[in-house]
Amino acid sequence: MPLSTQQTAADTATLPSGCAPTLRVMPMPSDANIHGDVFGGWIMAQVDIAGAIPATRRAGGRVATIAVNAFTFRQPVFVGDLLSFYAKIIKTGTTSITVSVEVYAERQRLDAEIIKVTEAILTYVATDDQRRSRPLPPA
Ligand SMILES: CC(C)(COP(=O)(O)OP(=O)(O)OC[C@H]1O[C@@H](n2cnc3c(N)ncnc32)[C@H](O)[C@@H]1OP(=O)(O)O)[C@@H](O)C(=O)NCCC(=O)NCCS
Repeated sequence: MPLSTQQTAADTATLPSGCAPTLRVMPMPSDANIHGDVFGGWIMAQVDIAGAIPATRRAGGRVATIAVNAFTFRQPVFVGDLLSFYAKIIKTGTTSITVSVEVYAERQRLDAEIIKVTEAILTYVATDDQRRSRPLPPA
């Protein structure tokens, strides 16, 4: 499959095998920026939602995002791409849960091109009903 001018071989991918995506979503025209590509802030919101899913399970209750430790937009996202978010816990502390999120786009073409578009690391903190941090329950 020919690569576009900005795309490297490292960006083409297959979806990770052996694990289900945490979240799948397709951006709509209302999610586009003024240039017609998908707005980075929309992608960041979806990444935060995806990362919070394993964090909430591990915390056994509500969490708050305390930090976005890293975020890389490797390739643009287009309206109509089918996005798959793979979120996994990479570290836990006393109250915190750090999650890696990788996002893959299936371009809406007949040859079903798959590209890793975004990588991020976020940290969540388990919180109580007063929004104060609380220790994680035993794993
Ligand atoms: C979440 C909150 C209650 C935590 O308050 P706190 O307990 O006083 O915060 P602390 O500074 O003690 O840090 C709590 C944990 O986060 C970790 N942490 C703090 N800053 C961090 C950073 N920049 N990167 C990674 N981890 C960080 C700390 O190391 C600690 O982890 P540990 O308990 O596992 O050792 C508070 O910061 C808050 O309300 N933040 C706003 C959250 C929010 O509105 N998010 C957006 C919408 S969800």
